[in-house]
Amino acid sequence: MSFKVTLQPSGRPFTAQADTSLLQAALDAELLVPYGCRDGACGACKAKILEGQVDHGKSPFTTLPETDRAAGMALMCCAHARSDLSIECRDVRSAHDIPVRKLPCRVQNLEKLAPDVMLLRLRLPPSEVFQFLPGQYVDFMLADGQRRSFSIASAAHADNSLELHVRLIPGGQFTSHVFSAMKERDILRIEGPLGSFSLREDNTAPVVFLAGGTGFAPIKAIIEDLIAREIERPITLYWGARERSGLYLHELAERWARQRADFRYVPVISEQPPEGWSGRTGLVHHAAMQDIPDMSGHQVYACGAPAMIDSAKKDFSERCGLPLSSFYADAFTFSANNPV
Ligand SMILES: Cc1cc2nc3c(=O)[nH]c(=O)nc-3n(C[C@H](O)[C@H](O)[C@H](O)COP(=O)(O)OP(=O)(O)OC[C@H]3O[C@@H](n4cnc5c(N)ncnc54)[C@H](O)[C@@H]3O)c2cc1C
Ligand code: FES
Repeated sequence: MSFKVTLQPSGRPFTAQADTSLLQAALDAELLVPYGCRDGACGACKAKILEGQVDHGKSPFTTLPETDRAAGMALMCCAHARSDLSIECRDVRSAHDIPVRKLPCRVQNLEKLAPDVMLLRLRLPPSEVFQFLPGQYVDFMLADGQRRSFSIASAAHADNSLELHVRLIPGGQFTSHVFSAMKERDILRIEGPLGSFSLREDNTAPVVFLAGGTGFAPIKAIIEDLIAREIERPITLYWGARERSGLYLHELAERWARQRADFRYVPVISEQPPEGWSGRTGLVHHAAMQDIPDMSGHQVYACGAPAMIDSAKKDFSERCGLPLSSFYADAFTFSANNPV
């Protein structure tokens, strides 16, 4: 059974089958609505149902509590249409005809950037052109059917390779394998590109990038793309880590700041600043709030641990006047197959 869904205020329509999530139905219609994890963990796809009924499916109460449900909210990645629908979704873009594909790839090289961060470069099949928007991610499809998500850290893909930054999760199945057993020429299977985290270019507002740890990866892709296309826009990058080693490409960020007059880089260490560290300390989003107490004219792109993103979203909007519609985030949630 199929239903007509209309996104408001744009009026853009799509058709949703009763057994397909609203997110999948929108993407199938080449409408890029906000989303991240696709399994109910990050909340990026939360939208208000203005008219009609949905089945919330496997929406977890942690992400979609009873109060949200009572207020008509739904997670588009979990909800299914049960009637024609009208849904409030202000941030809807065309998917630019970028297909989501499943591809084999080879490990081209592995390089330790920090004790717990590995650069993993993947070589795609020579005949394939893998299109993506800088900021998007890929899923590894593991042999047992599980998936693991990693952001693409490179903007250019002319050489048919993808760069990823993998943080080691103690006891983590996939990341432990990357650090201890994976080797060059291994074959992996990926699906992508996925996610809606990418620069909104319909606007020239100053940009604040907020990266926590390997949350730097998709932000690096976006910045390298901006630099390559010579897009002029005031940019401040706040990159936070517990220790100095967590700022694993610090010199690259410093180079961007030297290259561009409109680029500022603020590294922030939260736990163990090294001897002689003259930079900022504390929480990375607090540093941004100290520097930019009025964020009303900015766009913020935040990426990293879900707790950092939740705090930044709340504090920036409540205390610095950032409109919620100008906060874009990619939360590094865990695979739903795992107990949290
Ligand atoms: C859209 C998206 C993009 C991502 N991009 C990146 C990226 O570019 N770089 C990157 O390093 N990570 C990224 N992540 C996080 C990454 O997917 C997970 O860290 C990874 O799936 C862990 O896999 P694993 O098999 O090693 O751990 P699992 O075997 O899945 O987990 C083992 C244990 O660790 C816990 N755990 C799992 N992941 C984390 C975590 N991230 N932090 C704390 N505890 C955890 C689990 O709850 C479980 O108890 C991204 C996540 C999402 C959703
Ligand atoms: S909760 Fe739906 S995309 Fe993450």
